[in-house]
Amino acid sequence: MIWLGIESSCDETACAILKDENGHVEVLSNPLYSQIKEHAVFGGVVPEVAAREHLQKISSITSEAVEQAGISLHDIDAIAFTTGPGLMGPLLVGASFARGLSKDLGIPAYGMNHLEGHLAAAWLTAQDLEPPFLTLTVSGGHTELVLEEPGFKYTSLGRTRDDAAGEAFDKCGKLLGLQYPAGATIGRLGKDGNRKFHRFPRALKGDDSGEFSFSGLKTAVLRYTETNSPEFIQQNLGDICASLEEAIVDILVSKTVWALKKTKMKSLVVGGGVSANGRLREVLGTYCERHNIRLCFPDRSLSTDNGAMIAAAAIRRVRQNMLKDIPEVKPWMPLAE
Ligand code: KG4
Ligand code: ZN
Repeated sequence: MIWLGIESSCDETACAILKDENGHVEVLSNPLYSQIKEHAVFGGVVPEVAAREHLQKISSITSEAVEQAGISLHDIDAIAFTTGPGLMGPLLVGASFARGLSKDLGIPAYGMNHLEGHLAAAWLTAQDLEPPFLTLTVSGGHTELVLEEPGFKYTSLGRTRDDAAGEAFDKCGKLLGLQYPAGATIGRLGKDGNRKFHRFPRALKGDDSGEFSFSGLKTAVLRYTETNSPEFIQQNLGDICASLEEAIVDILVSKTVWALKKTKMKSLVVGGGVSANGRLREVLGTYCERHNIRLCFPDRSLSTDNGAMIAAAAIRRVRQNMLKDIPEVKPWMPLAE
């Protein structure tokens, strides 16, 4: 079966072709158009601008996906697109395009949860993995620990009270003079830096809950930039980025360890843009190896938003006979209530 996956919830227009054959899924193509440049001047994503860009690019990115996969449009058997969570305008562009194409080709189109997509990206690297398992979703809009049980039964163990982990990277990066989105840049600049150069706060670390809070970290970075000269910040940027990354990773890992102990799960699935972070992979990897926990990260190229993860989410649902028909487009749609 050939799937077309369409992702348009935020600032990437992404389409992918996946082949599901003999119980194995292969990504045949996964092109995307990133709107980073359009939004960088504003320091964040502008929903109206994003919707217009999606409208302009979605058709050509779909053609690109089909061409790169070496198939024709008529070889596609089904479409999966993102229904939320995300920005309303961008979601509507993807949904309208998917529904139009489905009608034209006479094939079904299914609306998928973006967060389920991020977790499905990790499943692509571990296709034999069956629930129950613990999941950690860390993206620009979400930070949440969720227990997934068979039948897509989700139980939240805690989420962020304020900013998401990716948002913390982006906002702190902005204060340090880095361009949006700053997560990958902070990871790169801090790679060989001194992680103990400055101790940024770790809110809620050590409390008996799966809740996160990152807004205090943002304030701490603001104070840090106010009390140190721009020259000092520039000269020590590598060490500051390393220390900042360490604080975020430390919070994420300690809460995940708390949830692993609480649920006694032996598998952990991580998804979302921040799952591309090398330090998070390293520290969680060390813990899971030591405690004999199966750890599933997406391929780095599938950590941030892409079309393959949306088709993969649909395929996971097919496997469990739980592919529902198109739900309404919802800008706010958590995995677990
Ligand atoms: O999942 P995603 O592509 O979009 C949302 O669904 O939000 O995540 C984007 C977020 C951004 O905040 C970005 O800074 C962060 O993921 N990110 C990273 C890295 N790559 C992307 N954060 C830390 N380290 C990275 N290597
Ligand atoms: Zn995402």
